[in-house]
Amino acid sequence: MSDGRRFDVVGTGIATVDELLYVDAFPKPDGKMAARAWMRSIGGLSAIAVATAARLGGTAAFLGAVGADDDLSRYVLDALAREGVDTTFTARVPGYTPIHAMIVVGIDPPTRNIFGFRPLDSSPPGLPPIPDEGIAAGQVLFVDSAHGPRTIAAMRTASARGIPVVADIETNTSPHFPELFALADHLIVPVALGRTLAGPEADPPAMLRALWSDRRRLAAITDGEAGCWFRVAGDSAVWHQPAFPVVAQDTTGCGDVFHGAYALAIARGESVAAAIRFASAAGAVKASRAGGQAGLPRADDLAALLAHPPISRRI
Ligand SMILES: Nc1ncnc2c1ncn2[C@@H]1O[C@H](COP(=O)(O)OP(=O)(O)O)[C@@H](O)[C@H]1O
Ligand SMILES: [Mg+2]
Repeated sequence: MSDGRRFDVVGTGIATVDELLYVDAFPKPDGKMAARAWMRSIGGLSAIAVATAARLGGTAAFLGAVGADDDLSRYVLDALAREGVDTTFTARVPGYTPIHAMIVVGIDPPTRNIFGFRPLDSSPPGLPPIPDEGIAAGQVLFVDSAHGPRTIAAMRTASARGIPVVADIETNTSPHFPELFALADHLIVPVALGRTLAGPEADPPAMLRALWSDRRRLAAITDGEAGCWFRVAGDSAVWHQPAFPVVAQDTTGCGDVFHGAYALAIARGESVAAAIRFASAAGAVKASRAGGQAGLPRADDLAALLAHPPISRRI
């Protein structure tokens, strides 16, 4: 490990407190039904990505923000601490608070309906910049699209220091989208954004062309149980990593787990294709388990899956 890079993965962006409600099926309007279970968990793209990197045996730090003194913020800090995620560089901002979300998970068919109590791209006033020291402490920087200017500044700092940036950008609605998009080295997005950028009828190769730039080491599209399509630097071919076959229980956070596992694999010097396969196994384990934090994968869970196909193939 080079000087000062104490963490495999440092991440900035969204942390949430999720109230997960498990129901047999999503109710019709005006319906009434008994729920199967209710659970509280930490959530959010960046918080789950760093928690996953730590759960899988890596070292990780959260560079995002919480409030100074409120219950939701305390919950987030405690949850990160339980995974061993370092919060030294987490900003404590008076008046700020994590997003509070209600997620209704339908079991058959598997669905997840997310109601967040604040716009995901909101950039609260008074957020201090991320200390350079925090960014420099990571082998890899993970970002989502929250807190645009603060995140963009962190991406520039990482870039100037030769630290690769892994990005999850779910929508193009933020005014900061063009810069976030331009500065990502490893860009992994959900298929919905691929369609937004390349057109509703676009196939994965067309979506990956829309995501590609000279800067990219990787562009990838994830599509739940249909798996992941990707393209790597120096090769215009499109590859498909099928999803690992599991019985899905709860796909909440699969993409966040995928990103955290991918970032950890890159930090450990794995090839992009190996990192995608590792991430796919992590996403599959999460899909197979109910619960947010409770469903995060461990390294042993992945080893069992990775011993078997599928491997990625060129399409
Ligand atoms: N039902 C599933 N079975 C197996 N793997 C899954 C399943 N759902 C998601 N995954 C894995 O997790 C990845 C990310 O999931 P996806 O649902 O596309 O992201 P997001 O949660 O951001 O919408 C997928 O590409 C796949 O590898
Ligand atoms: Mg996602």
